[in-house]
Amino acid sequence: MDKIAIISDIHGNIPALETVLADIRQRGIDIIYNLGDVVGKGAHSDLAIDLCREVCHVIVQGNWEAEILRVSDRPVLDWYAAQIGKERMAYLRSLPYVCDFWMSGKRVRLFHASQESVYKRIYAWETYETHRAMFENTSFTGMDEPAPDVVGYGDIHCAYMHTLYLDHKILFNAGSAGNPLDLPLATYVVMTGNFDSQKPGLFSIDFIRLPYDIERAVEQARQVRVPETEAYAVELQTAVYRGRQKK
Ligand SMILES: [Fe+2]
Repeated sequence: MDKIAIISDIHGNIPALETVLADIRQRGIDIIYNLGDVVGKGAHSDLAIDLCREVCHVIVQGNWEAEILRVSDRPVLDWYAAQIGKERMAYLRSLPYVCDFWMSGKRVRLFHASQESVYKRIYAWETYETHRAMFENTSFTGMDEPAPDVVGYGDIHCAYMHTLYLDHKILFNAGSAGNPLDLPLATYVVMTGNFDSQKPGLFSIDFIRLPYDIERAVEQARQVRVPETEAYAVELQTAVYRGRQKK
């Protein structure tokens, strides 16, 4: 039986990332998928990229990566781009949007936000049609892969799983490691099954919630003076979105 970790939306929060990686190591898991938004918001987009690049099997691009890579006249984004630097920017540019694999006979697809783009935001309470469309092949996902049985994504920073009314398909959100907006706990997913196997077998998805040193993350943000530091601090402490920037 194999276990893989799926982490998302680290947003430059190193204390949260270190806590999650330590938990993953302690479980003996060595395959880590990363659903994007490694950068932005928190103190250390640069270190978050370096750490993830070292330990993650695949990193898909999130809306923050896409925004920072776009030519932009938003000074807030310039702050992050300057911290990230040219070499890491080139690395971000090379990241794929989507990643598909087999797990216990199920075709699993992972992306940041939806089947349409890194920007199209899909909440837990959308209609059947909207959630069902997440399983379709599009020009964004690529048309040639088998349609998925399981779709996992990030972006909304709120972990959930739907198995009802989706024609026996499974839709889940991995939550956010570094900027959770449901519980103020670093969140990620452990998927268990036979990795890379088309044969039906045990398959499970577990949501892991970890306390981490939120005050250290706040302190680091103050030290480097991230844009809108105090609103960010309240967001980490309360897990309530402050509504000022893209998630
Ligand atoms: Fe995000």
